Amino acid sequence: MSKHDCTVATAAPNFALVKYWGKADDEAMMPAVPSLAITLDGPEIGVRVSVVDGDRDTVTLDGEAVDERWRDRTQSFLDMVRSGTGSSGALSVESTGGVVPAAGLASSAAYFAALSLAVTDLWGLDGDEEAVSDRARRGSVSAARSVPGGYVALDPQEAVDGRLPARTVYPADHWDLAVVVAVVQMGPKDVKSSDGMKRSRETSPYYPEWVRASRDHMTEALEAMKTRDLERLARVAESSCIMMHACAMASDPPVIYMRDGTRELMELVRWMRQQGVGCFYTVDAGPQVKVVCQQEDVERVKEGLDAVSGVRRILVHRPGPGARLVPSHGDS
Ligand code: PMV
Repeated sequence: MSKHDCTVATAAPNFALVKYWGKADDEAMMPAVPSLAITLDGPEIGVRVSVVDGDRDTVTLDGEAVDERWRDRTQSFLDMVRSGTGSSGALSVESTGGVVPAAGLASSAAYFAALSLAVTDLWGLDGDEEAVSDRARRGSVSAARSVPGGYVALDPQEAVDGRLPARTVYPADHWDLAVVVAVVQMGPKDVKSSDGMKRSRETSPYYPEWVRASRDHMTEALEAMKTRDLERLARVAESSCIMMHACAMASDPPVIYMRDGTRELMELVRWMRQQGVGCFYTVDAGPQVKVVCQQEDVERVKEGLDAVSGVRRILVHRPGPGARLVPSHGDS
């Protein structure tokens, strides 16, 4: 039985330093490789779910109807969770804030993390962080990592009976890192990440090597994180990023997310590192560049990125708390 007829949850994106790219099982949303990410403190997306009359779920983003693909993904997620609950009522799903969908800014990770937590509360399901994370993974694999806070791992070797939650390996205050995001192009990407990784698995000659190398990347990155060794983390994170993109680019037809501005920024970040600024880049399924650095170096990094002509917008975020419920009036 539900406790309320309306629940609001928030979550923020996470960016992977050791990348997830490829599923071992599409249906079960099981990743083929381990990944390690920073769950940020923003930009937060808020998801409000409420029970409504009628037999159809409705989905809006900032008050507007969402596109068909977003709707279908939300619908499949709701149907999957609903099938285990005995609930039958239609829902209204309203999300606000966050960032432009499908631009490589992890909006789907934040969205499905918040949605998972919201329906968990609304339908009175197991609200354990692991259960919420495992549920979020069914909406978008990377969403599992936006449920716990701080530095977060998602490792298929830890799956038990098809259940795989992400877990915090170090809390947000373990290391005072920041992520400076340089937005070089708004708007949705050409190839959605789920399609890109499927094509990589099916056609890229580099895919088996990518899967093999990711295990070493994970071990190395966890070591670097433990000892707070930025230089070591920089090497392994950039290597994981480059290998993911090389694997995708070698697909048939090629999957290319980087643009001229992306490459220019990557060069700049390497140059800044040579100049003594502790920083490194990572790039996801879109042209934006995320620069990880010590919090004390944020201003220097921002100045550097600002000088590049193609940069439209700069966002700065720190490791955050993970998905949270927003108390409503009447809650104790
Ligand atoms: O979970 P998805 O389908 O949004 O895939 C995310 C894949 C990357 O962002 C490219 C890498 C990652 O680990 O987040």
